[in-house]
Amino acid sequence: MTPRTIDSDAVATIVGQYDARPEMLVQILQRIVQQHGWISDAVIRQLAGELNLSRADVHGVVEYYHDFRTEPPGEHIVKICQAEACQAMGSRELTEHANRVVDQDTTLEPVYCLGNCACAPAVMVDGHTLGRVSTERFDAALAAMRGADS
Ligand code: FES
Repeated sequence: MTPRTIDSDAVATIVGQYDARPEMLVQILQRIVQQHGWISDAVIRQLAGELNLSRADVHGVVEYYHDFRTEPPGEHIVKICQAEACQAMGSRELTEHANRVVDQDTTLEPVYCLGNCACAPAVMVDGHTLGRVSTERFDAALAAMRGADS
């Protein structure tokens, strides 16, 4: 499980790698999410202080981008495309199914195009893109993902 706190020294190190330049806020947030999986309120406060921005400025950027989670993710991340081509091929129904079958170790997230439109509906499971995902194929992907843990 992802820790519920993010080490402030690790955040300060990342800020230092960008010379505490406020115009690098998006890149700094990306690095924090790569390393820690999410952005906490404490990190938003810290970044505002270290980058000489308002908390509202930092919070606004975090809210704007889908990938900047504000809750710790589960062990696994499953993204289901909600863009037009995938909707036309059943991604809403697939999402309803996914909401019923994922467990608390899995974070389910919407995404808006995985670049796999020709094979809609598209899903990304822990960074691996799958196409033409039926409910049966989704369940098989979850089972494989869980099997990889044991
Ligand atoms: S619309 Fe779903 S992958 Fe592009």
